[in-house]
Parts: sequence; C-alpha cells; structure tokens
Amino acid sequence: MTGKLIVLEGVEGAGKTTQLKQLHQWLEDLPQVQHLRHLGEMADIVITREPGGTNLGQALRTLLLDGSASHQVNDRAELLMYAADRAQHVDEVMRPVLARGGWVLCDRFVDSTVAYQGYGRGLDLSLIERLNRIATNGLTSDLTLWLRLDAEVGLDRSQKRGPLDRMETADAQFHQRVQQGFEALADAHPRRIAVVDAAQPVDQVAQQIQALVLDRLTLWYGHRL
Ligand SMILES: Nc1ncnc2c1ncn2[C@@H]1O[C@H](COP(=O)(O)OP(=O)(O)OP(=O)(O)O)[C@@H](O)[C@H]1O
Ligand SMILES: [Mg+2]
Repeated sequence: MTGKLIVLEGVEGAGKTTQLKQLHQWLEDLPQVQHLRHLGEMADIVITREPGGTNLGQALRTLLLDGSASHQVNDRAELLMYAADRAQHVDEVMRPVLARGGWVLCDRFVDSTVAYQGYGRGLDLSLIERLNRIATNGLTSDLTLWLRLDAEVGLDRSQKRGPLDRMETADAQFHQRVQQGFEALADAHPRRIAVVDAAQPVDQVAQQIQALVLDRLTLWYGHRL
C-alpha cells in the first residue's frame, strides 16, 4: 500500500495555506476516508510545506524568505537552497508517510521551482528539471491543484495579511513571469495539474477542490470505497 501526494501550488496569496487546512479537515471527516482506514487501505494525512517541512528546511526557509536579513541570496544559491530543502523533505517527511499508506498534503513542490526560479528568475528550465529530479529522487505528485489567481490580486491579499517576505517584495514583472510559468506547467501537464479558480470566495474554492479530490479518490480506490 502506498499513499498519495497532493500538492497545492500558486502565486503568493492565492490561498494555498488556507485551502490546505480546509482540505485536511474535510478529508478527516469524509466517510470514504474513514472507510478506507477501516479497511487498512489508508493511513494518516499529513500537512507539510516547502520550504520548511523539516528542521533543516525551516532554517533554509528563514534564510530564503526573511526580507529584513542582511545577507543577499543570488539566483543560483536560491535555486540550490530550495533543492536542499526538498531533498531533505522528501526523505524525512514525504516518503515515510507515503510508504505507510498515508497522504501528504503539501504547500508548494517542484512546480514552484519551475515557476519562480525558472520563469521568474530566468534560470535554465532543463537544469531545473534535472535538479528537481535529484531533489525528489523521482517522487512526483498524484494530484497538483493549481490555485489560479492574478498575481496582483494575490499580492494584495498578502499585503493585507501582514509584512511581506523576500519573494513577495520582488517586482510585479517577476510575479507576472511566475504566473506565466504556472500557466505553461498546467498546459503541459493537464492530467497531473488541475486548475482551480482561486478568485472565488474561500468556501467556493474549497468546494472546487473537494470535487476534484473526490474524483481522484474514486479513480484511486474505486471498488474499495
Ligand atoms: N478565496 C479567498 N478570497 C479572499 N481572500 C482569501 C481567499 N483565500 C485566502 N484569502 C486570504 O488571503 C490571504 C492569503 O491567503 P493564504 O495565506 O492562504 O495564501 P497562500 O497562497 O498560502 O500565500 P503565500 O504564498 O504567501 O503562502 C490570507 O489573509 C487569507 O485569509
Ligand atoms: Mg501560504
């Protein structure tokens, strides 16, 4: 029995963290999940994030995102720090959960690196793909939910939430390129990446996500439900 990896992606302020919590709660209460657990077909559901899903990752996250830090992070250093975070996270958190039949709900994964460091910073896309493979050791998501929202609207939400981090304070053109990156990824991987209209109110976004996850549950567990 191996579990499932569901990833939430999208620009700053798209609602990833909000929706991840809602999805977790909804899954825990879902009769189908309780039934699968009763059958021994499904273990625990773990929420995690990148960067910052491990102790090492948390230290890297602070170095990467602290907007007030005195250090500079150049583009290649940034790429490698995200990769280091991911390599640790995959082995320490994700693989063990999946191996025992659990589900991992992850806030950002490889697509964010393609969008931010590839499209945003302009680093070589094939190099990023290879680096992602090294970092994940081949682990791919079973379903990626792309919360599609105009970058400006997302930044506006982030601004209202509180102080902006180092990524959030990057210029508007950077965030537009990141958005184009997510669009290109969704076009290239229509089966893995499902598009969610994140401009709607929180509850309606949650309903879209629930419908998509229900579809996959049927696909994955079929006759055992
Ligand atoms: N559908 C929505 N409509 C309006 N506001 C929202 C919606 N979803 C989330 N928000 C609000 O927008 C802000 C950003 O949401 P959230 O932190 O979930 O986004 P995020 O994608 O995790 O952002 P980040 O990339 O910065 O981690 C929060 O203040 C949240 O309450
Ligand atoms: Mg978040």
